[in-house]
Amino acid sequence: MKDLFAKIYKDKGPLGKWASQAEGYFVFPKLEGEISNRMKFQGKDVITWSINDYLGLANHPEVRKVDAEAAAAYGSAYPMGARMMSGHTDLHEQLQDELAEFVGKEATYLLNFGYQGMVSTVDALVSKNDIIVYDVDSHACIIDGVRLHMGKRFTFKHNDIESLEKNLERATKMAEQTGGGILVISEGVFGMRGEQGKLKEIVALKKKYNFRLFVDDAHGFGTLGATGAGAGEEQGVQDEIDVYFATFAKSMASTGAFIAADKEIIDYLKYNLRSQMFAKSLQMQLVVGALKRLDMLRTMPELKQNLWKIVDALQSGLKARGFEIGKTQSCVTPVYLKGSIPEAMALVKDLRENHGIFCSIVVYPVIPKGLILLRMIPTASHTLQDVEETLVAFSAIRTRLEDGTYKRLSAAVMAAMGE
Ligand SMILES: Cc1ncc(COP(=O)(O)O)c(C=O)c1O
Repeated sequence: MKDLFAKIYKDKGPLGKWASQAEGYFVFPKLEGEISNRMKFQGKDVITWSINDYLGLANHPEVRKVDAEAAAAYGSAYPMGARMMSGHTDLHEQLQDELAEFVGKEATYLLNFGYQGMVSTVDALVSKNDIIVYDVDSHACIIDGVRLHMGKRFTFKHNDIESLEKNLERATKMAEQTGGGILVISEGVFGMRGEQGKLKEIVALKKKYNFRLFVDDAHGFGTLGATGAGAGEEQGVQDEIDVYFATFAKSMASTGAFIAADKEIIDYLKYNLRSQMFAKSLQMQLVVGALKRLDMLRTMPELKQNLWKIVDALQSGLKARGFEIGKTQSCVTPVYLKGSIPEAMALVKDLRENHGIFCSIVVYPVIPKGLILLRMIPTASHTLQDVEETLVAFSAIRTRLEDGTYKRLSAAVMAAMGE
């Protein structure tokens, strides 16, 4: 019989196998200094384009003050226990009520972490006779929620309404046999490429098919819509989203998340969400901090305006210089270049070491072979000067990519990293 660890000694997994070349630099990099538009990486100043602090709240003095006061008042333990048992407070309820009002839903329920909250919400919404139909490019937390489902599931092609409709037809036939219902899941904004989910078109299909819609709006909340209520508000269909999800990990610059829906649905979820029933309640310092951040979202529209000023300058500047930024309809700004993985590594090294630009790099298998995706997250704390410096740097790296410099350098990069 094999040792359980035998496979681990042999195969580190699709990402783990790159550890010796990548760790500490391309993955698990250590960004130092206060969270802002400029931080330090390995002792060098860099403009940071890879932090989801959309509204620049992470290091806002008012936020830091409230966070510190809440930590002093409550510590990091309070309240102890799960919400249902001993972890419930007036402030948890107040935050839920204020979030409900902000996103235009009857009720919300807090989640300790977005990821496990999503997994658990998918799990709680369906029983084995139900059918899930979800976008093939969904975030891992949706996929893992679907994995728990004991019944049928279908994927539809990414943001492809024809494919969704085909799968809804299949799902409807199946549901008629099983006696179950249909849950459609999409994202408000797809975080890798920045396209919004086609919520308006999805909702229109409700006239023809009987399903409920669950939207993960991690990147839309706080950044899209007239009031910042997200992609549903932006597309005018917030009321048609049956269950809405957002995390505090992006615009709110914190930890925690919530789901929003009709009161009866939230009442059900609060008694059936295993991730909350069997886990410690969201700490009070995070609840107090979230109340402050939400208040700033509501009362400081300039935060979102500043964000979009930077987004527009970056995206239009990139386009004007002929960069391919795909079909983004959000702050997420992907830059697509052609090249191999070693070339991508040399290019990112050049960006960081010689131009002081820090952004995330995405390569195969997340995107097709031969493509390099530099994923940039503009925030309200960036300046137009940051954008200008970045555009100049991007033009320089494109020239070097095209004239084969990175092809030559990549051999040296691999050698320097011990390969
Ligand atoms: C689309 C999406 N859903 C869910 C999550 C998970 O949220 P959290 O970080 O609160 O666990 C993320 C990442 O933060 C995300 O990008």
